Amino acid sequence: MSPRSADPGAADSASLFSLQGRRALITGAGQGIGLSLARGLATAGAELFLNDLDPTRLASAVATLRGEGFQVTGRCFDVAKETEVAAGVAGLELGEAGIDILINTAGIHRRAPLEAMPLESWQAVLDVNLTSAFLVARAVVPGMLRRGAGKIINLCSLNSEISRPTIANYSAAKGGLKMLTRAMAVEWGGRNLQTNGIAPGYLRTDMTGVLTIDPVWERTICNRTPAGRWGEPRELIGTAVFLASRASDFVNGQIIVVDGGLLAAL
Ligand SMILES: NC(=O)c1ccc[n+]([C@@H]2O[C@H](COP(=O)([O-])OP(=O)(O)OC[C@H]3O[C@@H](n4cnc5c(N)ncnc54)[C@H](O)[C@@H]3O)[C@@H](O)[C@H]2O)c1
Repeated sequence: MSPRSADPGAADSASLFSLQGRRALITGAGQGIGLSLARGLATAGAELFLNDLDPTRLASAVATLRGEGFQVTGRCFDVAKETEVAAGVAGLELGEAGIDILINTAGIHRRAPLEAMPLESWQAVLDVNLTSAFLVARAVVPGMLRRGAGKIINLCSLNSEISRPTIANYSAAKGGLKMLTRAMAVEWGGRNLQTNGIAPGYLRTDMTGVLTIDPVWERTICNRTPAGRWGEPRELIGTAVFLASRASDFVNGQIIVVDGGLLAAL
């Protein structure tokens, strides 16, 4: 038998982290981090609405998670296009039910030296990594405000803080996303919405595939990371469940870095 808490407001830790009865929309969830977080939230009890731009990827993710016994619906749309976002989230608000948790995961890279970066690459990266979080939140948040509760999690990056050559567009977008996270926290915090960011270090996904196949980069990341290795998408699940759950009700406007210690090291 567990000891009784002296604090009558204290809940047991399992119920603090439970997402039972909560509905989550996760963008860019066809693969990689989004798919991994989807599985993590579903395991904690959430019903899922998965978004991706790629219909085949999305259908496969939905089928896989359904096969694992989870309640999942797919919504295929481009998070960077205002009209598609509006159509994509239409119908998710049904009476008292709506989206309780929004995770903005969709993101892209278009690497190029800054002095030769085409405007199209600059704009595309800003649109998908930054503007999309504004567009999707703007579509979903009115329902959260009506119900008086909501959780928003934005996938930031180490590049919200530090940069390297060829990724100026990505760094600008992720730096902007960090400040959009804080702006959302400030704007909606008084109405019981909490907005936080997760800043992953280097994780093995399709996005980082060009780096993992390069033996020099592969080794550089291991040497640079105190943990001595790359991370896996599933290593973000604990942070995401925390930020999506009641356990984080007084946490707002924070960017939680999950990077094996890289940002702390010289
Ligand atoms: N992998 C890492 O090491 C790492 C590190 C820091 C931050 N991140 C961030 O985490 C997020 C996920 O990264 P990942 O590594 O899983 O990438 P990924 O490329 O494996 O997956 C991204 C998914 O987003 C989808 N997508 C792209 N554009 C879209 C659009 N316009 N509308 C809807 N969906 C779209 C893609 O189809 C894909 O399924 C991104 O925001 C990325 O910037 C990744």
